[in-house]
Amino acid sequence: MPARVVLGVGAGIAAYKACELLRLLTESGSRVRVVPTADALRFVGEVTWAALSGEPVTTQPWTGVEDVPHVRLGQEADLVVVAPATADLMARAAAGMADDLLTATLLTARCPVLFAPAMHTEMWEHPATQANVALLRHRGAIVLDPAVGRLTGKDSGAGRLPEPAEIFALATHLLTRGHPGTRPARDNDLAGRRVVVSAGGTREEIDPVRFIGNWSSGLQGYALARTAIARGAEVTLVAANVSLSDPAGAKVVRVTSAREMHDAVMAAAATAAAVVMAAAVADYRPATRHQAKLKKDGTGQAPEPIHLVENPDILAALATRRTAASKTGNEQVLVGFAAETDTSPQAAKAKLARKGCDLLVVNPVGNGLGFGTADNEAVVYRADGSVTEIPRGPKEALADVVWDLVACNLKLSVTPVNPDKIHRKLPGLIEGVSTWRVVCSHLSR
Ligand code: C5P
Repeated sequence: MPARVVLGVGAGIAAYKACELLRLLTESGSRVRVVPTADALRFVGEVTWAALSGEPVTTQPWTGVEDVPHVRLGQEADLVVVAPATADLMARAAAGMADDLLTATLLTARCPVLFAPAMHTEMWEHPATQANVALLRHRGAIVLDPAVGRLTGKDSGAGRLPEPAEIFALATHLLTRGHPGTRPARDNDLAGRRVVVSAGGTREEIDPVRFIGNWSSGLQGYALARTAIARGAEVTLVAANVSLSDPAGAKVVRVTSAREMHDAVMAAAATAAAVVMAAAVADYRPATRHQAKLKKDGTGQAPEPIHLVENPDILAALATRRTAASKTGNEQVLVGFAAETDTSPQAAKAKLARKGCDLLVVNPVGNGLGFGTADNEAVVYRADGSVTEIPRGPKEALADVVWDLVACNLKLSVTPVNPDKIHRKLPGLIEGVSTWRVVCSHLSR
């Protein structure tokens, strides 16, 4: 059966971008009912929405009342996406009003609800809007932070609608994540948590045209950012040399070198509940960065060797800072990634201990997996000695299991629980990924 999606459209100029989102949703096989506000039709007319969706379009519940549309649309939806979400629409939703078909649908929906706000910076930053956003998030909706950039007029700032393809990626994730029966539809277990994710590969300059780098594409880190946003987290993504579009809702900080990444991660992580270092960070950099391009001298002699010096180990620095601050009892969860050709448990456990992190995600490089591929597989080693195997699958699926484990750690650090006891309490659990999901949801009850 096709997924049933309600696309709510608020009265903002970004409504024209929602046409692209609608197209992506219908082409992926979803059945989409577009529910604009009355004023949204000033920007994009009913005919466009009806033609693109192949469904009737109304703004009020007074047509087809025999089907009780103000209740039915929300009840039957697998996902409600509101794009653009205006300040006025979110105010009405936060107040629980039901004065048109869209707000009534928002009151009756029991599925995930995703708001993609777009408005001028002043309206977004106003305390009234921020209070409404906080309330909607508190009640379980995913409200994206708007993108930063050019707005309707000549001004620019926070308030742009995130790219339709990125909203679509998030919508797809919300429609497909979790296994029926193991994860409640509105399980925003990272809501209210700030997390930092690093992605991509650092570059260490030799001269103005050359650098030492690596093949990291950033796909796994971006998947981690997207999945954390889908679970309600506030995400800062520190990206090194990545040519991917910004995940909708993430604050993206772009860096080039390991030292820049160190500074950006340490600053962003100061108040974060979890840090996931998915970036491939260069361990060494050239001792000297030449001001002019190095040239062949024409003598046929080998060039001078490039001397290397060690870069700061960001993960180890985070672990040291955490130990120093541990008196507060506010334990930050630290996750390292290790793309390895040697995936032996001994090597993994030694690295976990050396880095001082809580989880080490070891993924094999080669055999069609690793840098730039859509799929990944990994074994996650935890500081408590437990091991979770994540079978080959999309990087988004791997990311979700990492967040399951992080969520477990966040709760376990408050109330330590013996995993053996959990297994005894929950007999008949299937092993692996779903086990963790059930265990985590059990712990949160
Ligand atoms: O030692 P190795 O580079 O394999 O460790 C990988 C993990 O350590 C990754 O999570 C990576 O982001 C992190 N790392 C770091 N700082 C470095 C090198 C690696 O935080 N200088």
